[in-house]
Amino acid sequence: MASLMEDLRNTTAFIKDRGIGAVDFGLILGSGLGELAEEIEDAIKIPYQDIPHFPASTVVGHAGMLVYGTLSGKKVLALQGRFHYYEGNSMTTVTYPVRVMALLGAHSVIVTNACGGVNESFVPGDLMLINDQINYMGANPLIGENLEEFGPRFPDMSDAYTAQYRQVAHEVGEKLHLNLKEGVYMGFSGPTYETPAEIRMARTMGADAVGMSTVPEVIVAAHSGLKVLGVSCITNLAAGMQANLNHEEVVETTQRVKASFKELIKACLQAL
Ligand code: HPA
Repeated sequence: MASLMEDLRNTTAFIKDRGIGAVDFGLILGSGLGELAEEIEDAIKIPYQDIPHFPASTVVGHAGMLVYGTLSGKKVLALQGRFHYYEGNSMTTVTYPVRVMALLGAHSVIVTNACGGVNESFVPGDLMLINDQINYMGANPLIGENLEEFGPRFPDMSDAYTAQYRQVAHEVGEKLHLNLKEGVYMGFSGPTYETPAEIRMARTMGADAVGMSTVPEVIVAAHSGLKVLGVSCITNLAAGMQANLNHEEVVETTQRVKASFKELIKACLQAL
């Protein structure tokens, strides 16, 4: 069986053969937020199913396309649709594209998601800069042999979400009059939404938002020494804080705020 490192090298070689060159920023676009990739100039698009060792993404609202090109003057590699743990992917698969981004030379990733608001001052439609995370997914993508090519056995997570990037994003948000929130993202495995009791627990533990992604990708980004900007779209209030939860509302809210979301990410890319 080929090793993970061999698979990664094959994938990276394939992507380079398709004309994808230097990458500054990886861009991981969450549920309903993939449209931003359509603004990438001189785009090279590769469907996931064509890429060796890439699994297909299965969630409604996820296009499953790798898009490379220029956005706000920066070379970006965007994942239009990510791999989730709840789809049955291993943590290695969930985080595979982050390692590909690292091998292609990215120095940073912008990680985005749709999530539930736990902080009682949040309302659906708010955009939140992630300042830290709680891994409550019951797994860690770095369990197993350490890939020394990427980073150390015991990575420091103290500044996993780069403080300086958040500062820049706040300045950008003020200029755009976006009233950005900031807080801690807590990752659950899903696919169930949380129970009201789990949300009370999450709040007690210090979470401001809950979701089913992002945490493993940011662990692998930190391991690889990538800088991270995390942006959450609060699509709903978490369980017990509103009548009920459904995926339609999540998609509706991302559609409502997508213009602001796109402006924010483009302006951040410009400023970073
Ligand atoms: N919980 C978990 N994931 C989510 C939510 C939520 O309330 N909303 C959107 N993704």
